[in-house]
Amino acid sequence: MPIVTEDSSKIQVSPGQLFIGGKWQNGADTLETINPATGEVITTFAEAGSREVDSAVKAAREAFPAWRDTPPAKRGKLLWKLADLIGRDRERLATLETIDNGKPYFESGKIDIPFTAEIFRYFAGWATKIHGSTLPARGATFAYTRREPLGVVGLIIPWNLPLVMCSWKLGPALATGNTCVLKPAEQTPLTALALADLIKEAGFPDGVVNIITGRGTVTGAELVKHPDVNKISFTGSVPVGREIMKSAAETLKKVTLELGGKSPNIIFADANIDSAIKGAVNGIFYGKGELCCAGSRLLVDKSIHTQVVDGIKALVAKMQVGDPFDKKTRIGALVSKEQMKKVLGYINIGKEDGASVVAGGARAEMSGEFANGCFVQPTVFDNVNENMRIAREEIFGPVLAVIPFENEDEALAIANNVDFGLAAAVWTSDISRAHRFADKLEAGTVWINTINMFDPALPFGGFKQSGFGRDLGEDALDGYLQTKSIWVNLS
Ligand code: NAI
Ligand code: MG
Repeated sequence: MPIVTEDSSKIQVSPGQLFIGGKWQNGADTLETINPATGEVITTFAEAGSREVDSAVKAAREAFPAWRDTPPAKRGKLLWKLADLIGRDRERLATLETIDNGKPYFESGKIDIPFTAEIFRYFAGWATKIHGSTLPARGATFAYTRREPLGVVGLIIPWNLPLVMCSWKLGPALATGNTCVLKPAEQTPLTALALADLIKEAGFPDGVVNIITGRGTVTGAELVKHPDVNKISFTGSVPVGREIMKSAAETLKKVTLELGGKSPNIIFADANIDSAIKGAVNGIFYGKGELCCAGSRLLVDKSIHTQVVDGIKALVAKMQVGDPFDKKTRIGALVSKEQMKKVLGYINIGKEDGASVVAGGARAEMSGEFANGCFVQPTVFDNVNENMRIAREEIFGPVLAVIPFENEDEALAIANNVDFGLAAAVWTSDISRAHRFADKLEAGTVWINTINMFDPALPFGGFKQSGFGRDLGEDALDGYLQTKSIWVNLS
């Protein structure tokens, strides 16, 4: 389990183990997790093979009957207690998140970790509010429904918001009475392991939450295959989402998928241009662009195109790239060498396809302890054609594609002309147009005159190939419940 000393980027982290049935144990293999800002190995962690995955599923199955019958108020209290402990350990968790993922400390400390606690509190409240209904069935009968948990759920987490994603899945799964096997991403296992300690401290019964680490192709694939797992909830890439559906088909597991995006951010000439420019910059560069909802396609009305691009360039020029622990840093290190290679590859593709680089366009060279870091300059491509690869494929990095448009119809057509449908934003002062777009945009979330807003109460998830099922909000509960109809003969 990771034990960190005080909050500084030089913390000591002990080797990670698997958290199964409330106890720590070794895995089948040992992997390393790397600080992408320095290239240094932070620590080792265990990889669960088929045997350990099976133990974790067994522990969850054994814990299920008692957890299902635990009074909802008690489940809610435990979730609330967990939120308090996360709040208590905010700095420690934020430090771990930043060294493992490379994101600026201001993001993990001020946004990610507090948001994680907020999510657990929100779902704590739901535990006591899950109920069926009575229904007017035919004949002399009394008929009612019950909303019951699924059983053992497998939760597979990505590396971009490691602890936040744990709460998006664990919150509703636990509030509804399921037991869980959670697998964080192999790039960022540390905060999930730290969470295991807090789950224990909060007083969750052993086996209710099991946290197992390892590669997706090993631990993740075994979990999806396991016949005694009732459901997989996954956030990650489209190809892996497809693999999971195929593999889950064998055992007819229920599946929720939250996949990638290529979200359009649309600015009309009647918008508050200063706000829209700030929104465009935050929309793509927050989280280094490693966000599924990143506003990676900027659609701009031709009449304000130059003004908007100049405004973005001015803001980008002021963004500090580098040491994630420096308070002024706005862009940290990308999560891994592989991700940096992918992003730099797309930057080259954009150049070859004829888009013009107006900001960035290369790796950000650093010196000293950051010389081997995975830093990429915030990059803006102008005059991008909607058919170019950088306008169609998810880059998952700090790369913005600016696409000018002539009129509203064209803007809408370009916005919807991708396989993804996760989120979209529109900037306009015309209230009718704003709602026309809210209606016509093919996306699970539409922001009007704002961007990247999240609240535990608002469902989040995809249209089209961005997936199905919803995280957050009341809708998230549906993914972890099944309805039972009960008939009573009254005659
Ligand atoms: P990924 O989809 O491989 O990883 C996400 C999670 O799935 C990790 O926990 C991983 O271990 C697990 N996984 C991988 N293969 C699996 C399998 N066969 N069975 C079960 N679990 C499996 O994403 P990756 O490779 O880390 O990133 C590649 C691209 O995916 C990124 O460049 C980005 O475009 C996209 N991505 C999207 C995310 C989102 O939030 N929608 C999050 C992370 C990545
Ligand atoms: Mg790491």
